[in-house]
Amino acid sequence: MQVTHFDVESLRKDFPLLNISQGKNPYVYFDNGATSQKPQVVIDRLKQYYDQENANVHRGVHQLSQISTDNFEESRRIVRRFLNAEYDHEIIFTAGTTNGINLVATSFGTMLSEGDEILISELEHHSNIVPWQMLAHDKNLVLKYIPINNKGEWILDDISDLITDKTKLIAVSHVSNSLGTINPVEKIIEEGKKFGAKILVDGAQAIQHFKVDVQKLDCDFYVFSGHKVFGPTGTGILYGKESVLNAMPPYQGGGDMIKTVSMSGTVYNELPHKFEAGTPNIAGVIGLGVAIEWFMSIDTEAVAAHENDLLVYAHEKLSEIEGIKIYGTSDKKCSLISFLVGDLHPYDVGTLLNQQGVAVRTGHHCTQPVMEYYGIPGTIRASFSLYNTKEEVDYFIKALKRAIRMLS
Ligand code: ALA
Repeated sequence: MQVTHFDVESLRKDFPLLNISQGKNPYVYFDNGATSQKPQVVIDRLKQYYDQENANVHRGVHQLSQISTDNFEESRRIVRRFLNAEYDHEIIFTAGTTNGINLVATSFGTMLSEGDEILISELEHHSNIVPWQMLAHDKNLVLKYIPINNKGEWILDDISDLITDKTKLIAVSHVSNSLGTINPVEKIIEEGKKFGAKILVDGAQAIQHFKVDVQKLDCDFYVFSGHKVFGPTGTGILYGKESVLNAMPPYQGGGDMIKTVSMSGTVYNELPHKFEAGTPNIAGVIGLGVAIEWFMSIDTEAVAAHENDLLVYAHEKLSEIEGIKIYGTSDKKCSLISFLVGDLHPYDVGTLLNQQGVAVRTGHHCTQPVMEYYGIPGTIRASFSLYNTKEEVDYFIKALKRAIRMLS
């Protein structure tokens, strides 16, 4: 089913949580960067699974186990289509973006040697910094950072210093979670390939906003979280190129990732099971498949256009308020606005917005190096999704003005 026009009001009806209010206030959910709300079909699917299908996967000859296995593997096929990966077995189910990055850091990391270089950027969230710092520390690797400019964009002028024949892995975000910059990952992939570096793209803030085609990107890994793309929490995807995943050792040991185990050793299973030890989040994965099918039924370009309208409108309205400073002013931006008002503390503003029924995130957004770059403790972040409206932006601006009056 392809929805050819974008009707935000009818789409909102799919989301029970968007129809709540907070006392006499509406409820305006602008914390989509942290997690998205869930459509009714996903909520219903989780209930159906536990009501009628609950059984372990890949383990039983009995009927329910086979149904669960079929539905679980159907989700893998849905995700393969979503990312346009070449093979189903290039899709590894994880617990989320953080888990996917840690999997690569741990497993791919075993293949690195002292002096090898990893390149990340100053824009990364902690999940795409700390695993590499830990790995660099353990193995005496060199960790380099792509610097950023005042607009919150990568500075690639010195790319030949950043990427060398020692660069073994480049791990960068597709979209910045604290500034909203859409990063030129195509450029970094092209440059990295010249030196044989493998490239991981963190799509946690991208996949829910525009079409991603991993074959076209030609990245080696692409990670994202299920809960930010309308699916259940505790689910995520690591896409990896078959040849790259095959060369890597398993991540965790346990059931499902083995072919045979004897006292003298273990023969590991093939992809994708090699990287999926233990009982997975079966209900979550099935729910994620439903969420992604739901999302794929909507015209992605219409979603991007609608979200861009919201972003431009919110930028305009915010800029009219005295004392507002917006952080992240790249021309290539999506989905969110980070800002401060004069010297008001972001937490105080966020608290007063919450009292009026507006949910935003305040603080460093797990990107302390970005905050350090700007010399600020944090920002107020309003992050949008396809179901948000201009009326909600208007209400947010009204609530923000009231909060500023109360704090001034
Ligand atoms: N990384 C998530 C965010 O940006 C949690 O809010």
